[in-house]
Amino acid sequence: MKEKVLIFDTTLRDGEQSPGASLNLQEKVEIARQLEKLNVDIIEAGFPASSPLQFEAVRRVGEESGKTVAALCRAMEHDIKSAHEALRNARYPRIHTFISTSAIHIMGKFSNDRYGKTLAEKQQTILKMAVDAVSYAKTFTDDVEFSAEDAGRTDPAYLAEIIEAVISAGASTVNIPDTTGYTWPSEFGRKIADLKKRVPNIDHAVISVHCHNDLGLAVANTLSSVENGARQAECSINGIGERAGNASLEEIVMALSVRSDLHNFSTGIVTEEIYNTSRMVSSFTGLIVQPNKAIVGDNAFAHESGIHQDGMLKNRHTYEVMTPESVGVPQTTIVLGRHSGKHGLQARLSALGYKVTGAELETVYARFVSLADKKKEIYDDDLRVLMGDELNKLIEPLELDYLHINSGTASIPTATVRIRSKGKTYEESSTGDGPVDACFKAIERALSLGSLLHSYSVRSTTAGRQALGEATVKLNCDDRLFTGRGVSTDIIEASAKAYLQALSLHQNASGNDITTTIENTI
Ligand code: KIV
Ligand code: ZN
Repeated sequence: MKEKVLIFDTTLRDGEQSPGASLNLQEKVEIARQLEKLNVDIIEAGFPASSPLQFEAVRRVGEESGKTVAALCRAMEHDIKSAHEALRNARYPRIHTFISTSAIHIMGKFSNDRYGKTLAEKQQTILKMAVDAVSYAKTFTDDVEFSAEDAGRTDPAYLAEIIEAVISAGASTVNIPDTTGYTWPSEFGRKIADLKKRVPNIDHAVISVHCHNDLGLAVANTLSSVENGARQAECSINGIGERAGNASLEEIVMALSVRSDLHNFSTGIVTEEIYNTSRMVSSFTGLIVQPNKAIVGDNAFAHESGIHQDGMLKNRHTYEVMTPESVGVPQTTIVLGRHSGKHGLQARLSALGYKVTGAELETVYARFVSLADKKKEIYDDDLRVLMGDELNKLIEPLELDYLHINSGTASIPTATVRIRSKGKTYEESSTGDGPVDACFKAIERALSLGSLLHSYSVRSTTAGRQALGEATVKLNCDDRLFTGRGVSTDIIEASAKAYLQALSLHQNASGNDITTTIENTI
């Protein structure tokens, strides 16, 4: 019998903290459904006290999911209460509370004298806060996880002391994060082995690890800790997360699976769902997977040189340590087109992880047909983008009704836009440095806004002249960044839609109705 390593997925929490990533509510719910298909053990759905959107995401995922759903919170009553409230209807709620334990964090983050004057005094205050937090969380659920933030750089004796204390207070999982991605695999493995020796009640809790990738060692550190006693791995799809990201789920899982000759561990992951999950996360977050990324990159199973291709034709094991099928990479590209029927579309979407029925299927099919009119061949990635855009429509009170662009090498780029919101329309024109600039300026004029643009990018989702263009616009509104995405075969239209979506998200988050503001300023 193999020993199980629990997979704790933090794509929706730490992953979403990636610079440039932001997910709306519908996207989070959809990813959580896919994580369930992937069969992760725990889904960390967010940090409820940090924003109303995070709260709602945790609430929705908790309500729907048959998996354990974790909510992050600082070691503070207010945060813990908020995590509990967000998880109130979850079938298997987990409260995940954390506090810093390294000297550098304690002296930096708890510098106020009310935590004590010396490091030793502050450490005792932190220990008490950790114990109080776990005890309070236990009043809501038996499933309480404690994380010692920056455990990788924490003094071993103090780490052992605090871990023993939180287990005594009822923590059922103790997480040892390498928050700054500083440790070395053998060193991190020894840290886990050391805790097993030093902490007398360690067997009353599951040891978890959470490794960041600042030195590119997150997966190696995770595997080393498993060899030394960790039985929960915290990780994210495509390795997304703060700074250089978290340990990548697909790499941990496939390393354990492919090298099962070396150890006695297994995970419950349905590996054939890895590729679909990776694509969904990339498409919704806008974080592109590098082509040479292990397991899920476009080149992960591509064989370029003649010698490699020849070897592969004779025996695929010559250059492949796992098959593309084992991680769900499709071997044949199924292309849909204008003659594909509704059922064909539904079946393809279902194979990609999207369950679409009834009225939603009618809407998606109508959009598919209109796309197929513009673009002969519809690839899986087009469908993923279409589905992402469909979800976004649910939060889109500002709609692009009309767009006209005049641009060329010998003319001044000019754009006219008409925007619809709540039955009213707002129309304006503007010139600009280029057609996209003119279009953004026309939107700003129509809605009486100053320039809010923080960044803008555009990419093609598939190859070829008819490829769909996906535009990403980040707006700086009230000191917060709002990310909008738009897709179209016309990149100016995609850009305008992305701009309006970011504004809509801001409107939803702030509760301010932009159109009311316009009426007041006109
Ligand atoms: O990196 C970290 O330490 C974390 C904790 C909150 C688990 O994300
Ligand atoms: Zn982290």
